[in-house]
Amino acid sequence: MSQPTIESILQEQRLFSPPTDLAAQAEIKSLAEYEQLYAQAEADPQAFWAELAEKELEWFEKWDTVLDWQPPFAKWFVGGKLNITYNCLDRHLKTWRRNKAALIWEGEPGDSRTLTYAQLHREVCQAANVLKQLGVSKGDRVGIYMPMVPEAAIAMLACARIGAPHTVVFGGFSAEAVKDRLNDAEAKLVITADGGFRKDKAVPLKAAVDQALANNGAPSVQNVLVVQRTQADITMENGRDHWWHELIATASADCPPEPMDSEDMLFILYTSGTTGRPKGVVHTTGGYNLYTHMTCKWAFDLKDTDVYWCTADVGWITGHSYIVYGPLSNGATSLMYEGAPRTSNPGCFWDVVEKYGVNIFYTAPTAIRAFIKLGNQHPQARDLSSLRVLGTVGEPINPEAWIWYQQVIGGGQCPIIDTWWQTETGGFMITPLPGATPTKPGSATRPFPGILADVVDLDGNPVADNDGGYLVIRHPWPSMMRTVYGDDDRFRRTYWEHIPPKDGNYVYFAGDGVRRDEDGYFWIMGRVDDVINVSGHRLGTMEIESALVSHPAVAEAAVVGRPDDLKGEDVCAFVTLEHTHSPNDDLKTELKQHVVNEIGAIARPGEIRFADALPKTRSGKIIRRFLRNLASGEDIAGDASTMEDQSVLEKLRQGS
Ligand code: WTA
Repeated sequence: MSQPTIESILQEQRLFSPPTDLAAQAEIKSLAEYEQLYAQAEADPQAFWAELAEKELEWFEKWDTVLDWQPPFAKWFVGGKLNITYNCLDRHLKTWRRNKAALIWEGEPGDSRTLTYAQLHREVCQAANVLKQLGVSKGDRVGIYMPMVPEAAIAMLACARIGAPHTVVFGGFSAEAVKDRLNDAEAKLVITADGGFRKDKAVPLKAAVDQALANNGAPSVQNVLVVQRTQADITMENGRDHWWHELIATASADCPPEPMDSEDMLFILYTSGTTGRPKGVVHTTGGYNLYTHMTCKWAFDLKDTDVYWCTADVGWITGHSYIVYGPLSNGATSLMYEGAPRTSNPGCFWDVVEKYGVNIFYTAPTAIRAFIKLGNQHPQARDLSSLRVLGTVGEPINPEAWIWYQQVIGGGQCPIIDTWWQTETGGFMITPLPGATPTKPGSATRPFPGILADVVDLDGNPVADNDGGYLVIRHPWPSMMRTVYGDDDRFRRTYWEHIPPKDGNYVYFAGDGVRRDEDGYFWIMGRVDDVINVSGHRLGTMEIESALVSHPAVAEAAVVGRPDDLKGEDVCAFVTLEHTHSPNDDLKTELKQHVVNEIGAIARPGEIRFADALPKTRSGKIIRRFLRNLASGEDIAGDASTMEDQSVLEKLRQGS
């Protein structure tokens, strides 16, 4: 099993048509219907989105202006007032969905819980009142550092209920990473848990929050709300720490939704970029609600009777948009699973599919590759016949994994929805629609209606079919990020200036390389910047380098991605040491652990290589291209004559 290479993808010719019976009942029933919608949206994007916003969402007050576009700053549905939790909860209570399952939760040890829309509404209102009681009001930021338990979704919705933007930090990040994010967002309160269950272990979380807050580490944080999950022995600091269950028990379930301006901030979510520290991606209320609603409805072909399962963690954008907001806005049943496939139960995902009769299943290529390795006997021993649509996200999917997913999990019956999108885009940008789009293994196919995706060169000129280029979006869309939190300038530089605007027409630069074939299908080739994608998780090479050089033994570090069969890419770090230290295996282990402490286990380098010196240009810039070649065992590609010291490469090669 390998990552897609340009050669393998170029040779990929297979075409899979949507199953006829599925298409007949789908929201969008044919390619012609998709093309008609696409053309309509392209001709008049504002009218297209305004009509859907009117039809699909409830607003407390209608907007005055559909789009205010002052490049690169967009405002959607300006003057409109709504609350996303009203659309996700209250409006369903007026219908038969009142007692429909909103969240089905399966804990790793086998415990489970189902919350109907009425029950979820009640708990969200209670939690919102607890937040108010602890001094949180509209506009205050709240950090959420949680395992995959229903309270994670409840906490997010409680924040949105009162207009307090949340910033969820993935539970796998370290105390240091939590601290950085809490400080950047200046969070007033943190919601966490004593721990969570993952791979048969109780993972501590509260301890990391304690560490982040120690010595006044995050001075904006006044209170910590703690959900009890693992019964771990934790310390509760008097006056600062409060048990969730104790405060909820006495909280009122009456909490009217705060009327939010369409452009009020809904959340900040940190993601890795090319330079410096992770950036706080800002999403606002109205456009995000509409776009996650529409993409969830059309790309999954969501039916009211479906059980829908997205295996992501709520700590990532996929969890935000497609476990919580998108499905609940549609009144769907969204399944949350706490655990991960593990040696003690390699078939646990398929147990969940069978137990709840899951109809729509959404996961990542890295998980699919892991399932392939675990063996077909696990899925084959379960009844997976309930599945209708299968989705994938996070990284390019290699055609072999695509075919396995389609055959072994989908029994050849389910369309594969390969969704290309990003934290910044808020929702799916390029994706098949299951009843409409014929699929090709390895291609995310065609853009969602209203998304004007294109392939250009660095000057912004269109490239010919099948020539590689940069993926850009030509028109603002409702759920686009609004800015980098507190740093408009970084927003502009990162996304809008790599490709110079032509005649004042700004294009959004996604940071991905792409090829478009003669059928208009997009084939994503991966990042073109210094971001690496490890198991579908985005990591900035600079972040890992800063973590390494903060260790006293390290003089310099350069991090590159190296192809990996399972993870897609793995972290490979080249390190030069201070003269006080000499290279040895213990130090390698120590440095790997140091990165885990600074960032989290997801960033642990797969390999550390010690070097006397790093390859640099005469102006002192590290030449990563050469390191990438070395890391993947390839020949050095390109001209090395710009290098300052030619012997460096020779030594690195010999040492590898
Ligand atoms: C990559 C995750 C190929 C891409 C939703 C993008 C993909 C980055 C796909 C965003 C896909 C995501 N095919 N590559 N279907 N989906 N990517 O912000 O490089 O964690 O830029 O958002 O993941 O990662 P992020």
